[in-house]
Amino acid sequence: MAEKYKPIAIFDSGFGGLTAVRELRRIDPTADILYLGDTARVPYGVKSADVIRRYADEAVAWLTKQHVAAIIVACGTVSSVALPSLKSSVPILGVVEPAARAAAKATRSGKIGVAATPATIRSGVYAPAIARYNADAEIISRACPLFVPIVESGRTAPNDPVAKVVVADQLSELKAAGADTLLLGCTHYPLLSDAISAYMGSEVTLINSGAEAALALSDLPLPDGGATRGGTLHCFVTDAPEDFNQYSEMFLGDLVPDSVNKIWLV
Ligand code: DGL
Repeated sequence: MAEKYKPIAIFDSGFGGLTAVRELRRIDPTADILYLGDTARVPYGVKSADVIRRYADEAVAWLTKQHVAAIIVACGTVSSVALPSLKSSVPILGVVEPAARAAAKATRSGKIGVAATPATIRSGVYAPAIARYNADAEIISRACPLFVPIVESGRTAPNDPVAKVVVADQLSELKAAGADTLLLGCTHYPLLSDAISAYMGSEVTLINSGAEAALALSDLPLPDGGATRGGTLHCFVTDAPEDFNQYSEMFLGDLVPDSVNKIWLV
């Protein structure tokens, strides 16, 4: 009998990482996916590095016990602040390197904007990561603490008055600096893509960091010869699973999870 294919784990601080699930499912329709959202402790992006590392350690310790083939850390904050210190017995991939590579490749003017949570911007990971691929690139970073709350409130449409005001407020410096590429370094921001493009201009290339990480999965040496793949999606959250339904459609579109269960990480 063929060995059961081990699922790919996708970890995020909350629901935002479901944007990466959607992308992985698009790239690989039969991959089995196990999603963990630390919904009880979200948001991570406004917390200190110590706390973020501790939360991420606990999540990865739980995931490595679930017999997964690899872990994608879809959370921009965890990828930026905690990835190097995470201990995992399986391959683990964050969003920083794949997103930096994609942004460096996409820019024509050499001016790259990075929009992410305060903790990600404070970590300063993106400038050196992008420089590894394009030493001449000019990086302009901006923390956008208002983006996660407006996405969670569903105010994402480009003509939504709140989205318009918030996007303009948070991205004015990046627009004034003339960035031709904008790296969205947070799981939630792709849901604002239309509003961001409407403000920045359609000529500005948006880089979806979670999607780049999902694409980069193919760089990992994952053994699955002869294994069966079911195309399943099992989700685990650390707070009320009922809340999942409220967000599920916004982040997952018409993708429906096979199960949603609550777990305790500590
Ligand atoms: N998942 C986080 C990130 O991508 C955003 C939400 C949070 O602040 O925890 O940075």
